[in-house]
Amino acid sequence: MPFIDLRSDTVTHPTPAMRRAMYEAELGDDVFGDDPTVNALEARAARLLGKEAGLFVASGTMGNLVSQLAHLGRGQETIATFQSHLAMDEQAGHAVVVGTSVRTLADRPDGTFDLAELDESFRDPDDPHEPISGLVAIENTHGHSMGQPLTTAYTGQVAEIAHRHGVPLHVDGARFFNAVVALAVDPAELAGPADSVTFCLSKGLACPIGSVVVGSRAFIARARRGRKLVGGGMRQVGVLAAAGLVALRDGEAGMIQRLAEDHANARRLAEGLAGLDGVRSAGGTAQPGNGPLDPARVTTNFVVFRVDRNRAAFLDALRGRAVLMVEYPHGTVRAVTHYGVTADDIETILAATAAALRETAGSHPAPPAGVAASA
Ligand SMILES: Cc1ncc(COP(=O)(O)O)c(C=O)c1O
Repeated sequence: MPFIDLRSDTVTHPTPAMRRAMYEAELGDDVFGDDPTVNALEARAARLLGKEAGLFVASGTMGNLVSQLAHLGRGQETIATFQSHLAMDEQAGHAVVVGTSVRTLADRPDGTFDLAELDESFRDPDDPHEPISGLVAIENTHGHSMGQPLTTAYTGQVAEIAHRHGVPLHVDGARFFNAVVALAVDPAELAGPADSVTFCLSKGLACPIGSVVVGSRAFIARARRGRKLVGGGMRQVGVLAAAGLVALRDGEAGMIQRLAEDHANARRLAEGLAGLDGVRSAGGTAQPGNGPLDPARVTTNFVVFRVDRNRAAFLDALRGRAVLMVEYPHGTVRAVTHYGVTADDIETILAATAAALRETAGSHPAPPAGVAASA
Protein backbone atom coordinates (compact mmCIF):
# COMPACT_ATOMS: atom_id res chain seq x y z
CA MET A 1 0.00 0.00 0.00
CA PRO A 2 1.54 3.39 -0.93
CA PHE A 3 1.81 5.56 2.19
CA ILE A 4 1.45 9.31 2.31
CA ASP A 5 4.38 9.96 4.61
CA LEU A 6 4.17 13.18 6.62
CA ARG A 7 6.62 12.17 9.36
CA SER A 8 9.25 14.59 8.04
CA ASP A 9 10.49 16.31 4.90
CA THR A 10 13.58 14.08 5.24
CA VAL A 11 11.64 11.25 3.58
CA THR A 12 11.76 12.95 0.17
CA HIS A 13 13.43 11.13 -2.71
CA PRO A 14 15.67 12.83 -5.30
CA THR A 15 13.96 14.16 -8.43
CA PRO A 16 14.60 12.64 -11.89
CA ALA A 17 16.79 15.69 -12.72
CA MET A 18 18.87 15.01 -9.59
CA ARG A 19 19.30 11.34 -10.42
CA ARG A 20 20.50 12.26 -13.94
CA ALA A 21 22.90 14.86 -12.54
CA MET A 22 24.24 12.36 -10.00
CA TYR A 23 24.84 9.80 -12.74
CA GLU A 24 26.66 12.30 -14.93
CA ALA A 25 28.58 14.17 -12.19
CA GLU A 26 32.24 14.96 -12.77
CA LEU A 27 34.19 13.63 -9.79
CA GLY A 28 37.49 14.01 -7.97
CA ASP A 29 38.90 13.41 -4.49
CA ASP A 30 37.26 16.08 -2.36
CA VAL A 31 39.75 15.75 0.52
CA PHE A 32 42.38 16.93 -1.99
CA GLY A 33 39.91 19.67 -2.96
CA ASP A 34 39.60 18.43 -6.52
CA ASP A 35 36.02 17.32 -6.87
CA PRO A 36 34.67 19.91 -9.33
CA THR A 37 31.02 19.19 -8.50
CA VAL A 38 31.54 19.68 -4.76
CA ASN A 39 33.53 22.85 -5.44
CA ALA A 40 30.70 24.15 -7.65
CA LEU A 41 28.09 23.38 -4.98
CA GLU A 42 30.09 25.09 -2.24
CA ALA A 43 30.61 28.15 -4.43
CA ARG A 44 26.94 28.26 -5.45
CA ALA A 45 25.76 28.01 -1.82
CA ALA A 46 28.17 30.72 -0.69
CA ARG A 47 27.10 33.06 -3.50
CA LEU A 48 23.40 32.45 -2.82
CA LEU A 49 23.78 33.26 0.88
CA GLY A 50 26.20 36.14 0.30
CA LYS A 51 29.16 34.55 2.11
CA GLU A 52 32.78 34.03 1.09
CA ALA A 53 32.93 30.25 1.17
CA GLY A 54 30.98 27.03 1.68
CA LEU A 55 31.57 23.49 2.92
CA PHE A 56 29.60 20.39 1.93
CA VAL A 57 28.90 18.15 4.93
CA ALA A 58 27.01 14.92 5.47
CA SER A 59 24.11 16.24 7.56
CA GLY A 60 22.61 19.14 9.45
CA THR A 61 24.03 17.71 12.66
CA MET A 62 27.51 17.65 11.15
CA GLY A 63 27.01 21.22 9.89
CA ASN A 64 26.19 22.44 13.39
CA LEU A 65 29.02 20.39 14.89
CA VAL A 66 31.77 21.65 12.55
CA SER A 67 30.45 25.20 12.94
CA GLN A 68 30.82 24.89 16.70
CA LEU A 69 34.30 23.39 16.27
CA ALA A 70 35.22 26.37 14.08
CA HIS A 71 33.74 29.06 16.33
CA LEU A 72 34.47 27.76 19.82
CA GLY A 73 37.33 26.74 22.06
CA ARG A 74 37.11 24.09 24.76
CA GLY A 75 35.32 25.39 27.86
CA GLN A 76 33.34 28.05 26.01
CA GLU A 77 29.57 28.30 25.94
CA THR A 78 26.88 28.66 23.26
CA ILE A 79 23.63 30.51 23.95
CA ALA A 80 20.66 28.85 22.23
CA THR A 81 16.98 28.33 22.90
CA PHE A 82 15.87 25.47 25.11
CA GLN A 83 13.99 23.61 22.38
CA SER A 84 16.60 24.07 19.67
CA HIS A 85 17.89 21.05 17.76
CA LEU A 86 21.46 22.03 18.63
CA ALA A 87 20.69 21.92 22.36
CA MET A 88 18.20 19.03 22.44
CA ASP A 89 18.69 16.66 19.55
CA GLU A 90 22.37 16.30 18.75
CA GLN A 91 23.47 13.95 21.53
CA ALA A 92 25.19 16.89 23.26
CA GLY A 93 27.84 16.88 20.52
CA HIS A 94 28.79 20.31 21.81
CA ALA A 95 29.97 18.62 25.04
CA VAL A 96 31.13 15.26 23.69
CA VAL A 97 33.12 16.53 20.71
CA VAL A 98 33.58 20.29 21.02
CA GLY A 99 34.11 20.44 24.80
CA THR A 100 31.63 23.27 25.33
CA SER A 101 28.39 23.90 27.20
CA VAL A 102 25.07 25.31 26.02
CA ARG A 103 23.20 27.93 28.01
CA THR A 104 19.53 27.58 27.08
CA LEU A 105 16.99 30.39 27.18
CA ALA A 106 13.23 29.97 26.75
CA ASP A 107 11.85 29.81 23.21
CA ARG A 108 9.02 32.27 22.73
CA PRO A 109 5.97 31.14 20.71
CA ASP A 110 7.37 32.75 17.56
CA GLY A 111 10.67 30.90 17.97
CA THR A 112 12.61 33.93 19.17
CA PHE A 113 14.67 34.76 22.24
CA ASP A 114 13.53 37.45 24.63
CA LEU A 115 16.20 39.91 23.51
CA ALA A 116 16.63 41.52 26.93
CA GLU A 117 17.17 38.05 28.42
CA LEU A 118 19.66 37.26 25.66
CA ASP A 119 21.55 40.46 26.36
CA GLU A 120 21.82 39.50 30.04
CA SER A 121 22.88 35.91 29.45
CA PHE A 122 26.50 36.55 28.46
CA ARG A 123 29.02 35.46 31.05
CA ASP A 124 31.36 37.72 32.94
CA PRO A 125 34.80 36.97 31.46
CA ASP A 126 36.45 38.29 34.62
CA ASP A 127 34.66 35.81 36.88
CA PRO A 128 36.74 32.62 37.13
CA HIS A 129 33.64 30.61 38.09
CA GLU A 130 31.98 31.07 34.71
CA PRO A 131 32.55 29.61 31.25
CA ILE A 132 33.30 32.08 28.45
CA SER A 133 30.40 32.96 26.12
CA GLY A 134 31.58 32.02 22.65
CA LEU A 135 28.60 31.76 20.29
CA VAL A 136 24.91 32.56 19.86
CA ALA A 137 22.86 30.11 17.78
CA ILE A 138 19.35 30.51 16.40
CA GLU A 139 17.22 28.06 14.41
CA ASN A 140 15.48 29.19 11.21
CA THR A 141 12.85 27.94 10.63
CA HIS A 142 12.25 27.18 14.29
CA GLY A 143 10.92 23.64 14.62
CA HIS A 144 9.19 23.63 17.97
CA SER A 145 7.19 26.76 17.28
CA MET A 146 5.59 24.86 14.37
CA GLY A 147 8.23 25.99 11.89
CA GLN A 148 8.03 29.75 12.36
CA PRO A 149 10.39 31.69 10.08
CA LEU A 150 12.65 34.20 11.84
CA THR A 151 12.92 37.53 10.04
CA THR A 152 15.96 39.39 8.80
CA ALA A 153 15.21 42.17 11.30
CA TYR A 154 15.20 39.71 14.21
CA THR A 155 18.37 38.00 12.96
CA GLY A 156 19.98 41.44 12.79
CA GLN A 157 18.93 42.25 16.36
CA VAL A 158 20.39 38.99 17.65
CA ALA A 159 23.60 39.56 15.66
CA GLU A 160 23.91 43.08 17.05
CA ILE A 161 23.67 41.79 20.63
CA ALA A 162 26.06 38.89 19.98
CA HIS A 163 28.63 41.11 18.25
CA ARG A 164 28.39 43.75 20.98
CA HIS A 165 29.48 40.98 23.36
CA GLY A 166 32.26 39.95 20.98
CA VAL A 167 30.56 36.69 19.98
CA PRO A 168 29.58 35.39 16.49
CA LEU A 169 26.07 34.33 15.41
CA HIS A 170 25.42 30.90 13.88
CA VAL A 171 22.13 30.09 12.17
CA ASP A 172 20.99 26.47 12.19
CA GLY A 173 19.06 26.84 8.95
CA ALA A 174 18.11 23.20 8.48
CA ARG A 175 15.01 24.65 6.77
CA PHE A 176 16.54 28.02 5.89
CA PHE A 177 14.95 28.10 2.43
CA ASN A 178 11.49 27.49 3.90
CA ALA A 179 12.08 30.71 5.84
CA VAL A 180 13.34 32.48 2.70
CA VAL A 181 10.21 31.50 0.78
CA ALA A 182 7.77 32.20 3.64
CA LEU A 183 9.25 35.65 4.22
CA ALA A 184 9.75 36.36 0.49
CA VAL A 185 13.29 37.61 1.12
CA ASP A 186 16.57 37.21 -0.68
CA PRO A 187 18.64 34.39 0.92
CA ALA A 188 21.69 36.66 1.16
CA GLU A 189 19.62 39.26 2.99
CA LEU A 190 18.34 36.75 5.55
CA ALA A 191 21.82 35.26 6.01
CA GLY A 192 23.45 38.71 6.05
CA PRO A 193 23.61 39.37 9.80
CA ALA A 194 24.92 35.85 10.60
CA ASP A 195 28.59 34.83 10.74
CA SER A 196 27.73 31.29 9.67
CA VAL A 197 24.70 29.45 8.36
CA THR A 198 24.15 25.75 7.81
CA PHE A 199 21.27 24.58 5.62
CA CYS A 200 20.06 21.09 4.75
CA LEU A 201 19.76 19.82 1.20
CA SER A 202 18.13 16.59 2.35
CA LYS A 203 14.91 18.01 3.79
CA GLY A 204 12.44 20.07 1.73
CA LEU A 205 14.99 20.46 -1.08
CA ALA A 206 14.68 16.69 -1.64
CA CYS A 207 18.34 15.71 -2.01
CA PRO A 208 19.26 12.28 -0.67
CA ILE A 209 22.10 13.46 1.60
CA GLY A 210 23.89 16.59 2.66
CA SER A 211 24.02 20.06 4.12
CA VAL A 212 26.15 23.09 3.34
CA VAL A 213 27.83 25.41 5.85
CA VAL A 214 28.67 28.94 4.69
CA GLY A 215 30.69 31.77 6.22
CA SER A 216 33.97 33.62 5.88
CA ARG A 217 36.96 31.95 4.20
CA ALA A 218 38.79 31.70 7.53
CA PHE A 219 35.75 30.18 9.27
CA ILE A 220 35.26 27.61 6.50
CA ALA A 221 38.94 26.64 6.64
CA ARG A 222 38.51 25.85 10.36
CA ALA A 223 35.21 24.05 9.72
CA ARG A 224 36.93 21.96 7.04
CA ARG A 225 39.48 20.82 9.63
CA GLY A 226 36.60 20.03 11.99
CA ARG A 227 34.86 18.02 9.29
CA LYS A 228 37.98 15.87 8.83
CA LEU A 229 38.24 15.42 12.61
CA VAL A 230 34.76 13.93 12.81
CA GLY A 231 35.37 11.63 9.86
CA GLY A 232 33.46 13.72 7.35
CA GLY A 233 36.23 14.04 4.76
CA MET A 234 34.53 12.31 1.84
CA ARG A 235 36.09 11.45 -1.50
CA GLN A 236 34.21 11.26 -4.86
CA VAL A 237 31.33 12.96 -3.14
CA GLY A 238 30.39 15.05 -6.17
CA VAL A 239 28.00 12.19 -6.85
CA LEU A 240 25.93 13.63 -3.94
CA ALA A 241 26.78 17.29 -4.43
CA ALA A 242 25.34 17.05 -7.96
CA ALA A 243 21.85 16.69 -6.47
CA GLY A 244 22.47 19.79 -4.36
CA LEU A 245 23.40 21.81 -7.43
CA VAL A 246 20.07 20.86 -9.01
CA ALA A 247 18.21 21.82 -5.80
CA LEU A 248 19.84 25.26 -5.74
CA ARG A 249 19.08 26.12 -9.39
CA ASP A 250 17.07 29.27 -9.96
CA GLY A 251 13.32 29.26 -10.52
CA GLU A 252 11.35 26.21 -11.55
CA ALA A 253 14.50 24.27 -12.44
CA GLY A 254 15.44 24.19 -8.75
CA MET A 255 13.71 23.13 -5.55
CA ILE A 256 13.57 26.40 -3.58
CA GLN A 257 10.66 28.16 -5.24
CA ARG A 258 8.39 25.09 -5.01
CA LEU A 259 8.58 25.11 -1.18
CA ALA A 260 5.66 27.58 -1.41
CA GLU A 261 3.47 24.61 -2.48
CA ASP A 262 4.43 22.75 0.70
CA HIS A 263 3.51 25.79 2.77
CA ALA A 264 0.12 26.12 1.05
CA ASN A 265 -0.52 22.40 1.54
CA ALA A 266 0.40 22.62 5.24
CA ARG A 267 -1.98 25.55 5.71
CA ARG A 268 -4.78 23.68 3.92
CA LEU A 269 -4.08 20.63 6.10
CA ALA A 270 -4.26 22.75 9.26
CA GLU A 271 -7.50 24.37 8.14
CA GLY A 272 -9.06 20.94 7.62
CA LEU A 273 -7.67 19.52 10.87
CA ALA A 274 -8.97 22.51 12.84
CA GLY A 275 -12.52 21.53 11.86
CA LEU A 276 -12.21 17.91 13.06
CA ASP A 277 -13.64 16.73 16.36
CA GLY A 278 -10.74 15.65 18.61
CA VAL A 279 -8.02 17.95 17.22
CA ARG A 280 -6.67 20.63 19.58
CA SER A 281 -3.86 23.14 19.46
CA ALA A 282 -0.46 21.75 20.44
CA GLY A 283 -0.08 24.22 23.28
CA GLY A 284 3.36 25.19 24.55
CA THR A 285 5.69 26.81 22.08
CA ALA A 286 3.91 25.45 19.01
CA GLN A 287 0.76 27.32 19.88
CA PRO A 288 0.09 28.96 23.20
CA GLY A 289 -3.10 27.92 24.96
CA ASN A 290 -5.05 24.72 24.69
CA GLY A 291 -7.79 25.86 22.32
CA PRO A 292 -8.52 24.91 18.75
CA LEU A 293 -5.67 24.53 16.27
CA ASP A 294 -5.01 27.94 14.69
CA PRO A 295 -4.22 27.46 10.98
CA ALA A 296 -2.93 31.05 10.75
CA ARG A 297 0.12 29.91 12.70
CA VAL A 298 1.07 27.52 9.93
CA THR A 299 3.41 29.61 7.79
CA THR A 300 5.89 26.98 6.54
CA ASN A 301 5.63 23.19 6.22
CA PHE A 302 5.05 22.03 9.83
CA VAL A 303 1.65 21.29 11.39
CA VAL A 304 1.82 20.36 15.08
CA PHE A 305 -1.32 19.50 17.02
CA ARG A 306 -2.73 17.47 19.88
CA VAL A 307 -5.47 14.82 19.80
CA ASP A 308 -8.08 14.28 22.52
CA ARG A 309 -7.40 10.59 22.11
CA ASN A 310 -4.68 8.09 22.86
CA ARG A 311 -1.95 9.39 20.57
CA ALA A 312 -0.35 6.03 19.78
CA ALA A 313 -3.75 4.50 18.97
CA PHE A 314 -4.58 7.47 16.76
CA LEU A 315 -1.26 7.19 14.85
CA ASP A 316 -1.82 3.43 14.40
CA ALA A 317 -5.31 4.02 13.08
CA LEU A 318 -3.89 6.58 10.68
CA ARG A 319 -1.19 4.14 9.56
CA GLY A 320 -3.95 1.61 8.90
CA ARG A 321 -5.29 4.15 6.41
CA ALA A 322 -1.87 4.58 4.73
CA VAL A 323 -1.06 7.98 6.27
CA LEU A 324 2.01 8.46 8.46
CA MET A 325 2.44 11.22 11.03
CA VAL A 326 4.87 11.18 13.94
CA GLU A 327 4.92 11.71 17.70
CA TYR A 328 6.44 15.08 18.58
CA PRO A 329 7.54 16.28 22.04
CA HIS A 330 5.09 17.23 24.78
CA GLY A 331 2.40 14.77 23.67
CA THR A 332 1.86 16.33 20.24
CA VAL A 333 1.62 15.00 16.68
CA ARG A 334 3.60 16.44 13.76
CA ALA A 335 2.74 16.40 10.06
CA VAL A 336 5.26 17.84 7.58
CA THR A 337 4.43 18.58 3.95
CA HIS A 338 7.07 18.16 1.25
CA TYR A 339 7.91 17.33 -2.37
CA GLY A 340 5.75 14.36 -3.37
CA VAL A 341 2.75 15.34 -1.22
CA THR A 342 0.17 16.98 -3.49
CA ALA A 343 -2.84 19.21 -2.86
CA ASP A 344 -5.07 16.19 -3.68
CA ASP A 345 -3.22 14.17 -1.05
CA ILE A 346 -4.27 16.74 1.57
CA GLU A 347 -7.93 15.78 1.01
CA THR A 348 -7.04 12.08 1.34
CA ILE A 349 -5.09 12.82 4.54
CA LEU A 350 -8.00 14.76 6.04
CA ALA A 351 -10.46 11.95 5.29
CA ALA A 352 -8.06 9.39 6.82
CA THR A 353 -7.53 11.60 9.89
CA ALA A 354 -11.28 12.04 10.42
CA ALA A 355 -11.73 8.25 10.20
CA ALA A 356 -8.79 7.57 12.57
CA LEU A 357 -10.24 10.04 15.09
CA ARG A 358 -13.64 8.32 14.88
CA GLU A 359 -12.06 4.91 15.35
CA THR A 360 -10.14 6.03 18.44
CA ALA A 361 -12.86 8.19 20.03
CA GLY A 362 -13.05 7.43 23.74
CA SER A 363 -9.46 6.11 23.97
CA HIS A 364 -7.64 7.74 26.85
CA PRO A 365 -4.98 10.36 26.12
CA ALA A 366 -1.63 9.35 27.65
CA PRO A 367 -0.74 11.26 30.85
CA PRO A 368 1.57 14.21 30.33
CA ALA A 369 5.28 13.36 30.20
CA GLY A 370 6.73 12.87 33.68
CA VAL A 371 3.41 11.90 35.29
CA ALA A 372 3.26 8.23 36.30
CA ALA A 373 0.36 6.36 34.72
CA SER A 374 -0.89 5.29 38.17
CA ALA A 375 -0.75 8.80 39.64
C1 LIG B 1 16.51 22.42 13.13
C2 LIG B 1 17.33 21.23 12.77
N1 LIG B 1 18.66 21.31 12.84
C3 LIG B 1 19.45 20.27 12.51
C4 LIG B 1 18.91 19.08 12.11
C5 LIG B 1 19.83 17.92 11.83
O1 LIG B 1 19.79 17.52 10.51
P1 LIG B 1 20.27 16.03 10.11
O2 LIG B 1 19.11 15.13 10.37
O3 LIG B 1 20.58 16.17 8.64
O4 LIG B 1 21.46 15.71 10.91
C6 LIG B 1 17.52 18.94 12.03
C7 LIG B 1 16.94 17.64 11.62
O5 LIG B 1 15.77 17.43 11.61
C8 LIG B 1 16.70 20.04 12.37
O6 LIG B 1 15.38 19.95 12.33
